[in-house]
Amino acid sequence: MNTGNFTYPIQEYIDKVEELMRQKSDGHHPEINSALDHLLSSGGKRIRPTITLLTGKMLGGSIEKLIILSAAIELLHTATLVHDDLIDGALLRRGIATLNAQWSPAATVLTGDYIFAKAASLAAETESSELIKIFSNTLATIVNGEITQLFANRGVVNREEYYRRIYAKTASLFELSAMAAAMLSPVSKETILSFKQFGYDIGMAFQIIDDILDFTGEQTTIGKPVASDLRQGIITLPAIYYFENSKDHSILEAFANGNYPLESEMENLIHLIKNSDSISSALSEAKSFVIHAREIFADQPDCIEKTALENLTNYIVDRNF
Ligand code: IPE
Ligand code: IPE
Ligand code: MG
Ligand code: MG
Repeated sequence: MNTGNFTYPIQEYIDKVEELMRQKSDGHHPEINSALDHLLSSGGKRIRPTITLLTGKMLGGSIEKLIILSAAIELLHTATLVHDDLIDGALLRRGIATLNAQWSPAATVLTGDYIFAKAASLAAETESSELIKIFSNTLATIVNGEITQLFANRGVVNREEYYRRIYAKTASLFELSAMAAAMLSPVSKETILSFKQFGYDIGMAFQIIDDILDFTGEQTTIGKPVASDLRQGIITLPAIYYFENSKDHSILEAFANGNYPLESEMENLIHLIKNSDSISSALSEAKSFVIHAREIFADQPDCIEKTALENLTNYIVDRNF
């Protein structure tokens, strides 16, 4: 899928976001700057800044502030990935080695903290105290999600918990990306809330697709290890559908008893889930979120940003990485 069909109205601003994220601070340890360079050069879809810039530009917001906000959000995202990969013991992200694959946990944690600090400082530059508050609350939600997952019982099938988890780790930041853009624009409180809902819907869809790709994707395409959730006893939507329709719960029982299944059993289960209806059921759910998301901005006057947002919603469910 071509991402150009939704980035074109804001490409020049994305370039400015990149510049802002890379801005060096004098007097700080050179390793921090080289780590930041490493992280930011490794790519990343920049989907959250794209949402912020398209939404804000469509709603007539100040471009200068939208660029600052976008950089703050993408840095917040980058910092959560640095810590997440350490927590998950993941050695690969965006097709290259993670920081924790090369550095000690201490250096990795501190670099993540540094990026959080940079994100907060940019958020403050928007000079909106309301926005800074929402920004901090979103970080708290993400951290709470990670902690909850850390202490969660493995191998438990629970839809409610699944939706809470994907909200915390992904949809909350998408919500912020769209809502905060509306907050920096001359629109009503009601419009701000409807764009919050828009961010929520596409965020939920985005994570469901991520969870599908964890089963159907190839490591070389998605740039990170596959089927990692199930291997850790974390049950995502495709697996939820599968277990709801299957009588064999032996793997779930093994996890519940604190046993990790044999790799061969795991491979077999992943194969079964991949080839079951669970994948298309999960996909339909993601599509429903996206359909709802589109209804939210359907009444906006026609403009290139609106068309691009429509294309972005299609990309969210069609993407293969
Ligand atoms: C990865 O997010 C973490 C999730 C919340 C799924 P992205 O898929 O947006 O990661 P990058 O920034 O493009 O690498
Ligand atoms: C990462 O969550 C998302 C966060 C920001 C906490 P996951 O661990 O589920 O996602 P990936 O697979 O590493 O991207
Ligand atoms: Mg994780
Ligand atoms: Mg992870």
